Amino acid sequence: MKLWGGRFAEGPSEVFERFSGSLHFDKRLVEADVRGSQAFARALERVGILTAEERAQLVAAFDAILAESRTPAFYEGATDEDVHTLVIRKLKDRTPLADKIHTGRSRNEQVSLDTRLWLRGETERVQTLLAGLLESLVELAEKYPAAIITGYTHLRRAQAVLWPHYLLAYFEMFARDWERFDQARARINVLPLGSGALAGSGFPFDRHAIAADLGFDSITRNSMDVSADRDFLLDFLYAASVTMIHLSRLSEDWILYSSDEFGWIDLADGVTSGSSLMPQKKNPDSLELIRGKCGRVIGSLNSLLVTMKGLPLTYNRDMQEDKEPLFDAVDQTAASIEMATVVAQSVTLREAIPAKAAEEGWVVATDLAEALARAGVPFHSAHKLVGRLVLESVKAGKKPTDWTAAELTAFAPEFTAEMAALLRPAEGMKSREVPGGTGPLAVAAALKEARSRLASLRR
Ligand code: ARG
Repeated sequence: MKLWGGRFAEGPSEVFERFSGSLHFDKRLVEADVRGSQAFARALERVGILTAEERAQLVAAFDAILAESRTPAFYEGATDEDVHTLVIRKLKDRTPLADKIHTGRSRNEQVSLDTRLWLRGETERVQTLLAGLLESLVELAEKYPAAIITGYTHLRRAQAVLWPHYLLAYFEMFARDWERFDQARARINVLPLGSGALAGSGFPFDRHAIAADLGFDSITRNSMDVSADRDFLLDFLYAASVTMIHLSRLSEDWILYSSDEFGWIDLADGVTSGSSLMPQKKNPDSLELIRGKCGRVIGSLNSLLVTMKGLPLTYNRDMQEDKEPLFDAVDQTAASIEMATVVAQSVTLREAIPAKAAEEGWVVATDLAEALARAGVPFHSAHKLVGRLVLESVKAGKKPTDWTAAELTAFAPEFTAEMAALLRPAEGMKSREVPGGTGPLAVAAALKEARSRLASLRR
């Protein structure tokens, strides 16, 4: 069955039908399509196209179709052009009233409506998964509240930080992602129905009533924009891509930190796999796959950006190519967040190892230089002085803690005996109590705040 054809003397070629059909993927929108059509039937009643009885019959038929759509038989032998056509054909099988359902409605607005309804639910699901990941990060931070690790720049030891401070950096990233999805949701949750094919419907629908019926916050303002617009998908895909970048960077960190070379963290057996040849291997495949899927999701964003570029207003069939990348991005992003959460729950920190790295590397150098500056030495001179101390130590094979207070003062009189305490990374941290810093009090407060922010992120 077709929703068009009167104007055609011949049917489409078999190749064209196969080439253009989208049912095999857009069937994911079937529930949204049915729910949207039920609301549209109620709208048709309000403008006098359907009687209350006809509307009730149609709504009931749609309910039956929705139930049937959950069985594989529903799709057996279906050659319909798309999910909208399939649903109307099934409706025709049930009631002759099906011929009225498309009054004043176009598939151009219907596809926008269906995608919005479906994606609204998926966005909420992704947000819930993100809240779970945030929770697992907070829990992992709370397990080792005083653990010290070295922070890196250029992948070289830079300054000592608390383990919770490191994890809270990711908390910030994923909390921003949650907000980005919320902003995308606001753009998604706008009613397009009433726009017709491109010029506005020829029937005086109360569009606000339809919006309220379907839980939309507002209505679109321009019918041509509706037919041409996929910005709301781009917003989602951008939010998903940034989330995946954060997940990928976390994965990269933990692949490194769990390597024999670092040895900081242990990943549980349940999230790692072995080698078919090398018996000793325990590989971080879960994290590698997240990193890999990141490229795939960015690909989906790119795919839609390029599809939309240069399309003349309004609807063009090119836009049907939006769905496969969108569906894939939703699936991969949700699965990756879920996986990362389970990995985070499985992490054990071998506290002594990163603590030792922090003691041995000269990550305390900045603390010393700043202490000198607080004592009145111009920072540039302090920097130079500590640089010389490091150079001397490297030559002599000395760790920071190999220096006694007396030796330090002997090296340069600017060093006071109290400054020797700063040779231990735990000491210098105490000077970083600025909001957002790694000072132990600041971190404890940030961790507490993260907990309460988490509570407010729950939908
Ligand atoms: N399957 C199409 C899509 O996803 C439906 C939209 C309307 N089709 C059309 N030829 N006007 O974009």
